[in-house]
Amino acid sequence: MNIRLARVDDVMGMQSTNLQNLPENYVMKFWMYHAMTWPQISFVAEDHKGRIVGYVLAKIEEESGENGDPVHGHVNSISVLRSYRRLGLAKKLMLLSQEAMASIYKAEYVSLHVRKSNKAAIGLYKGTLGFEVAQVEKKYYGDGEDALSMRLSLKER
Ligand code: ACO
Repeated sequence: MNIRLARVDDVMGMQSTNLQNLPENYVMKFWMYHAMTWPQISFVAEDHKGRIVGYVLAKIEEESGENGDPVHGHVNSISVLRSYRRLGLAKKLMLLSQEAMASIYKAEYVSLHVRKSNKAAIGLYKGTLGFEVAQVEKKYYGDGEDALSMRLSLKER
């Protein structure tokens, strides 16, 4: 398994992985925008044939640095194909993105939203990576489920 920076020509593979894994899907423009605007903080995992089996798509918050809100990264979406799970791929993808957010953009923290019922992802964020719940956002998702808004400080690492 190879993990590397996402390129603009990966967006089809990333979108297809997303469609197989999550109900929150995005138009191609969204993937392109991220890959082109913040090219150093999104990563993919590929198999030996170069097929994308996992990705993390991230951004730097636009309003960062203004109004006293520190510069921070935000993970929009992460997923790993079912047969490649529990191999540590998501952990590696997250760590690479966090590292790049801190070193390239001087991001002070990273945020994300996750469904309250998503045990696997919460296990990854809270248990493995050390994220904390900043707040619960009621009915954040289209089907009415609450989101946990989570954060991890990138300072003093
Ligand atoms: N149950 C409990 N804990 C889990 C689970 C699980 N099913 N999966 C991962 N973890 C935790 C464990 O602590 C694990 O460490 P361990 O294997 O040593 O016990 C740790 O996370 C690291 O696991 P990885 O192997 O790195 O995670 P994986 O590559 O399997 O990917 C992911 C995890 C991305 C959540 C995967 O299950 C997935 O694609 N799920 C569907 C899509 C999804 O829910 N994405 C997140 C949505 S929120 C967002 O995108 C911001």
